[in-house]
Amino acid sequence: MRHLLSTADLDRSAAVALLDTAEELAATQSREIRKLPTLRGRTVVNLFFEDSTRTRISFEAAAKRLSADVINFAAKGSSVSKGESLKDTAQTLQAMGADAVVIRHQASGAPHRLAHSGWIDVPVVNAGDGTHQHPTQALLDAFTVRSHLAARAGNAGPRGADLTGLHVVVVGDVLHSRVARSNVDLLTTLGARVTLVAPPTLVPVGAHTWPAAVDYDLDAALATEPDAVMMLRVQRERMSSAGGGFFPSPQEYHRRYGLTRDRLARLPDHAIVMHPGPMNRGLEISAEAADSPRSTIVEQVANGVAVRMAVLYHLLAGAPAPTTQGANL
Ligand code: CP
Repeated sequence: MRHLLSTADLDRSAAVALLDTAEELAATQSREIRKLPTLRGRTVVNLFFEDSTRTRISFEAAAKRLSADVINFAAKGSSVSKGESLKDTAQTLQAMGADAVVIRHQASGAPHRLAHSGWIDVPVVNAGDGTHQHPTQALLDAFTVRSHLAARAGNAGPRGADLTGLHVVVVGDVLHSRVARSNVDLLTTLGARVTLVAPPTLVPVGAHTWPAAVDYDLDAALATEPDAVMMLRVQRERMSSAGGGFFPSPQEYHRRYGLTRDRLARLPDHAIVMHPGPMNRGLEISAEAADSPRSTIVEQVANGVAVRMAVLYHLLAGAPAPTTQGANL
């Protein structure tokens, strides 16, 4: 694996290998000393053109736990405000010794451009581009589903389990969601069945050609007794630029598509409730659902560190090591 740009680029064995590595690395994180020497001497640049809390901090934590140096770049307050281009910004950072670039950008396709333009010559990791892809979010979601539900999956085992036989319902603003796109690709690659539930105005053109069922009725979808329900954030910042009008009111959205206390009570006992964060409490998810024992939302954040360590490990530890310490787990 040279770059991680999209979950559509991962076949089942590559995805399972990343999840297995993440599992191994997660186990090291309960040790007294959590830092591993694996990427000593390497430099990871976090290049964030769009706001982030979870992804940016967990990539930084992941790189540091592997002993890499980290350079954090936020477009706000940088020379981007003077008109500097993505190409010049990236080349400046590579000149400072970047061995890998993690990029979040508001433009779909920006990480692909960075990886394949020839501007820089290091691995690129997509940390979320526009409405397109967020592959490490999908990996941490799959990791979370697997850790809770592997025993129900068809080929469950202590390691190497995929998600065969599981049913995941993804609910909400699919139109603007890179999380939904990445999850449809990855969950189905791993053998799960996915149902997307959204108001017709928030279903992207072409979604019926994706490897997922599409439903407009949340109560009907929940009646199928899914193993996991993944609530999506309503992305109001992307709606206002389109003039709004995607649903009549927040109250109506919550009534039709929110994970209310009543809907939570109807889920099967084993089902988990997921959300990538940040949440709009009271809109797509009630406080009761977000804070319930079946919620994995905080755990997803913790799993993000191990998954991002695995991604950096796969991308960088295979390259010639700068020290004799090499790639030891
Ligand atoms: N889930 C997610 O990408 O969160 P952040 O925007 O806080 O990184």
